[in-house]
Amino acid sequence: MQHFTRMTVRKEASLVRFAVKEDLKPVNSKLDHPLLKKPRKKEPDFPQLAETDLVRHYYRLARLNFSWEDGLYPLGSCTMKYNPLLNEAVAAEPAFNALHPALPAEHSQGALQIIVETEKMITQLLDLAHVTLAPAAGAHGELTGTMMMRAWFEAKNDKRKYILIPDSAHGTNPASAAMAGFEVKKIAVRPNGTTDLDSLKKALDHETAALMLTNPNTMGIFENEIHEIKKLLDSVGALLYMDGANLNAIVGRVSLGKMGVDLTQLNLHKTFSTPHGGGGPGQGALGVSERMLPFLPGPQLRENAGKIEFFNPEKSIGRIKGSYGQFGNILRAWSYILRWGNQTREISGRAVLNSTYIRKKLGGVLTPASDLPSMHETVYSEKPLKDRGLTTVNLAKALLDRGFYAPTIYFPLNVPGAIMVEPTETESKEELDLFIETVRSIMTEDPEKIRQSPQNAPVIKIDETSAARNPRLSWRM
Ligand SMILES: Cc1ncc(COP(=O)(O)O)c(C=O)c1O
Repeated sequence: MQHFTRMTVRKEASLVRFAVKEDLKPVNSKLDHPLLKKPRKKEPDFPQLAETDLVRHYYRLARLNFSWEDGLYPLGSCTMKYNPLLNEAVAAEPAFNALHPALPAEHSQGALQIIVETEKMITQLLDLAHVTLAPAAGAHGELTGTMMMRAWFEAKNDKRKYILIPDSAHGTNPASAAMAGFEVKKIAVRPNGTTDLDSLKKALDHETAALMLTNPNTMGIFENEIHEIKKLLDSVGALLYMDGANLNAIVGRVSLGKMGVDLTQLNLHKTFSTPHGGGGPGQGALGVSERMLPFLPGPQLRENAGKIEFFNPEKSIGRIKGSYGQFGNILRAWSYILRWGNQTREISGRAVLNSTYIRKKLGGVLTPASDLPSMHETVYSEKPLKDRGLTTVNLAKALLDRGFYAPTIYFPLNVPGAIMVEPTETESKEELDLFIETVRSIMTEDPEKIRQSPQNAPVIKIDETSAARNPRLSWRM
């Protein structure tokens, strides 16, 4: 039914003269429905717009967005991966989506069973002691983990002040460490993108709580010296926190237990295809080693005599969020993991293959920032662009003009003008070839023409600093 607001209807009605003869008019044109008997006396305070105008407005806005459905979305680090429709069908099941989040455990055993199963499957994939789905996002998992580290040292009356974080880390790492009350010490990154162990040795002391290491790191490179790193940390009683956001590059292939990881947060959207919570309200996960179990946030879930119940771990840091997990997202991850079954290593295999394919085919056109093999994403340097009088932004805008989303640019910070390309595992060879051809043609076209991009985007050239610092938000087109 269309809802025209009264203003629209009244204005139009005064212009209309119906040419209907008196004797044809109905005796009583009033509909006999109880809801129509007592019309409201006061106009509700709604914007005076017709539904058609609204629908068209939002549809127009939606078309300004670039989405995965439009084509390759190679946004490194943020991982815009395809979320299979099966996930949506499972999450839309009325038996699931009509559940009230405050139902007591005895009335939501089926839902809790799915949460516990998901936690168990991810625990197995990580090879750690436990995974909790309590956190609302990757960054929230980091905060939960850093709070647990603080509680772990406090329980031993061991005063620790610092968390060490490599230069290439995601900004949420230092933010989480600071929010949990630690000071951050920066660790240098070698030119090849790996953590500089000399810098780590220099920074380590008995005031160090942990190293927060992303692995594979934000250069897309696996930290192969992880055993040496672990030994160094053990020598001062510090913990190994792994930012596991990039698990999609290693899932099904690497044991985090064998790497000596004490805590790791996962971003379910990157590996297990849930919508991105962007810091929350989405779904994160936190994996922990045996010694961290008593400090997990409360409540946690466990099976007891055939039933699932909530309990508070012995030295819990307490509640980190209103309800346990974001069930709709857990369902999506659950269905995604079960769909892959025992083939989850295919996820990482294909992600690395696709990224490596682009890297090889772009040889001589773009230069990887590191000579080491990259995994699910590759960071390229700005040098070949600079040589042609272009910048990283020019390449990004030229890609937008040619129907691709732009890669992540100027991150990680240790690579000036970085271009970070992550194709994900679901892209076909044809789509990758199209992207490669497009980058190649941009790199050979007249630089002056490339500098004019974007010409086909809804917004042409903006002053990006002012747009970020001083946005003028408007509904006007
Ligand atoms: C390496 C890394 N760590 C942490 C995060 C933060 O995760 P989230 O956006 O889920 O809060 C991200 C973002 O995707 C990331 O790439």
